Amino acid sequence: MVGGQLSILIIGGSGFVSGTLARVARDAGHDVTIVTRGEKPIPEGVRALQADRKDHQAFAAAIEGAGTRWDLAVDCIGYEAEDARQDVELLPEVVAHLVFISTDFVFDPAKRAYPQPAENPHFLDDGYGGKKRDCEEVLLAADTGDMRWTVMRPCHIYGPGSQLGCLPEHSRDEDLIATIRAGRPLRLVGGGHFLQQPIFARDLARLCLSACGNEIAHRGIYCAAGPDIIESRRYYEIIGEVLGCEVTVEETPVTEALEEHPEWAPFLCHRIYDLSPLRLAGLQVPNTPIVRGLFEHVKSLV
Ligand SMILES: NC(=O)c1ccc[n+]([C@@H]2O[C@H](COP(=O)([O-])OP(=O)(O)OC[C@H]3O[C@@H](n4cnc5c(N)ncnc54)[C@H](OP(=O)(O)O)[C@@H]3O)[C@@H](O)[C@H]2O)c1
Repeated sequence: MVGGQLSILIIGGSGFVSGTLARVARDAGHDVTIVTRGEKPIPEGVRALQADRKDHQAFAAAIEGAGTRWDLAVDCIGYEAEDARQDVELLPEVVAHLVFISTDFVFDPAKRAYPQPAENPHFLDDGYGGKKRDCEEVLLAADTGDMRWTVMRPCHIYGPGSQLGCLPEHSRDEDLIATIRAGRPLRLVGGGHFLQQPIFARDLARLCLSACGNEIAHRGIYCAAGPDIIESRRYYEIIGEVLGCEVTVEETPVTEALEEHPEWAPFLCHRIYDLSPLRLAGLQVPNTPIVRGLFEHVKSLV
């Protein structure tokens, strides 16, 4: 660290979450290196390494060849145990603190508590969420030497750079704005009654940065959510308010949705969290009100 300026490595760095993180870190004056396959445009003002993380030799060569030590690394694209193993094998030599981005889909939706504590031990054991939990377990079992690590489990992440929509049947729906403007009803599972606590992408970025060097957050796993708990249907109503259009909702029954789309199960539960563990650890607590964040998100798409 030089005069408060951190040296930061982002695995990913040009997509939605990782690109937002790269820009927030850059704008805060930090020295940012990203690693991608070079398929997407690179944010300005960052150092870009090119490697496919699935090609272990090429990835190791890119990291080692950079000839740098980083205060913080954020793995934005770890989806399988082998990705987390790559982190714990390669990064302790060159990184002081690793943040791994997991997901709140690690939890078994049938065994949630409200709010859901990070310590709830009921996890999925397959699919996207189960594999993210495998990654967390790799970290928990690893000897990472002097490298600290922290896991963030975001819920629905929103903000410029992504599509709108937090619940089936309008999840990341690129036609959502047109549908609302045309006055067509939205079909939401359970009528959109499930509670959510969406996190604005820049808040998640600031939260990840705040973990750097935080001894309390070492080996910590945190649920990462926004400041507002809302019914999912309210999320869509706010979008309608930004557009100046009324939103009408038709209900898809939950049992019918689950029969046809068992993969939707992790969406079909209340996803709410207590932010006190973040506060008590001295981490940057997400604070963008959903109304303000969605206003910016909608405006970025119209
Ligand atoms: N979106 C949500 O609501 C949500 C909720 C909870 C958790 N999460 C988690 O948030 C994280 C970020 O999600 P995201 O979808 O926004 O992705 P992202 O961070 O934008 O990741 C994509 C980036 O990774 C690069 N990339 C992809 N495959 C690569 C590879 N094999 N090797 C090197 N670079 C590669 C891409 O660039 P190139 O294509 O140029 O390589 C791009 O820069 C994920 O871990 C996800 O599980 C998301």
